[in-house]
Amino acid sequence: MSKIAVIGTGYVGLVSGACLADFGNHVVCVDNNAEKIAALKTGVIPIYEPGLDLVVARNIAAGRLSFTMDLAAAVKANDVAFIAVGTPPSDDGSADLRYVEQVSREIARAMDFYKIIVDKSTVPVGTGRKVEGWIREELSARGVDLPFDVVSNPEFLREGSAVQDFTHPDRVVIGSESERAHTIMKDVYRSLYLNETPYIETNLETAEMIKYASNAFLAVKITFINEVANLCEKVGANVQDVAKAMGRDGRIGAKFLHPGPGYGGSCFPKDTQAMARTGRDHGEPLSIIEATIEANEKQKARMVEKIETGLGGTGSLSGKTIAILGLSFKPNTDDMRDSPAIAVCEGLVARGAKLRAWDPAAMKEAAWRLASIKDSLLFANDEYDALDGADALVLMTEWNQFRNLDLDRVKTLLKAPNFFDLRNVYKREELETEGFAYFAVGK
Ligand SMILES: NC(=O)c1ccc[n+]([C@@H]2O[C@H](COP(=O)([O-])OP(=O)(O)OC[C@H]3O[C@@H](n4cnc5c(N)ncnc54)[C@H](O)[C@@H]3O)[C@@H](O)[C@H]2O)c1
Repeated sequence: MSKIAVIGTGYVGLVSGACLADFGNHVVCVDNNAEKIAALKTGVIPIYEPGLDLVVARNIAAGRLSFTMDLAAAVKANDVAFIAVGTPPSDDGSADLRYVEQVSREIARAMDFYKIIVDKSTVPVGTGRKVEGWIREELSARGVDLPFDVVSNPEFLREGSAVQDFTHPDRVVIGSESERAHTIMKDVYRSLYLNETPYIETNLETAEMIKYASNAFLAVKITFINEVANLCEKVGANVQDVAKAMGRDGRIGAKFLHPGPGYGGSCFPKDTQAMARTGRDHGEPLSIIEATIEANEKQKARMVEKIETGLGGTGSLSGKTIAILGLSFKPNTDDMRDSPAIAVCEGLVARGAKLRAWDPAAMKEAAWRLASIKDSLLFANDEYDALDGADALVLMTEWNQFRNLDLDRVKTLLKAPNFFDLRNVYKREELETEGFAYFAVGK
């Protein structure tokens, strides 16, 4: 059993803290957001993440999980301090490390014996060394010389299936030069280690690079199939059949070959930008990643053009009402960070459309993330309410409840039967037989 403080109780910190407690560790989750900690203390989970409430409740009841705003006390009372704060993009694309720095310095000001500081936030190569430097600076300002080790332990969980991903990972990556730290980290992940989860021990820089290289590769894969889809539309090929056949090749793999409106979310957009920036900074430009970022921006813009073209060409969006189903960047999360829905909604409004939007979980997020177009946007009460009197339906996010719409009802509610399926959920024949004008991506 390890004694752990997890600093930053967001999507990653809360899932990590709760699941590490479920592994039998003693965990205190720290955050400087008073509202969040107050909610958690009363058993309210501040994010939408299936199954997380049960893990949190189970571990609070077992006395293994607690929440606090007192970082110093949490650091003093525990041996391992995880950093799980945000690393959003700066204006120049690099990762903004200010929260990581703040927390590193606070840890150093509070520590009074050997600590392991584990970086779980996604940070550019070289950040672990910076964390070491910040901690040394604070210790020397205090006039003390305490032992500590910095570890990189990147997180690969996916929102929407975060609990399953954390408890059944494809691999655990631990980067450190210290044998002592490696031994303690094996204890932290004892349940997984004993279950023979692939466990990769390496140095700090390599662990940091593994995270960026993995995310960037997945972003490239999505973007690759999006570009193939665009070409399929021009030459009369069906991208879904292309992707299915490609995916059967074991060297390629079927995952992340689903064309759509471009990747979004809290990780791929910022991590590709940060990695590209690191490449430029080191005089090793990563041309594939640079091209991916550009192609992904174009893909989002292309969706707006697709809708405008489908409705009759330039100017056709003016005065039209468009129903948007789904706003989160993917199903089963309320996260709208860099969701392609934002760019598509803003693009449609810029061309004169009015929107009726609905999402099963992201309505609260949408209220402020779409504030700039609020005068042209009505938040509906459910998916059918969104369709009422609209000139077109745009399926933005493939929530399960949008996979099985009552098509007769959809047709009755829409003013015109235009169906833009940006996630390729439906079959063209079925929709056309029902009398819809059907538009998909790459087929
Ligand atoms: N969200 C994901 O799916 C995911 C997956 C893998 C890795 N990551 C990485 O994990 C990191 C965290 O991401 P997230 O999505 O959980 O972010 P988040 O914004 O949901 O959570 C960050 C939390 O840190 C808190 N915080 C900030 N400064 C603090 C401070 N000084 N003291 C205490 N708490 C502080 C914030 O209040 C917030 O609750 C990022 O680097 C991200 O790239 C995210």
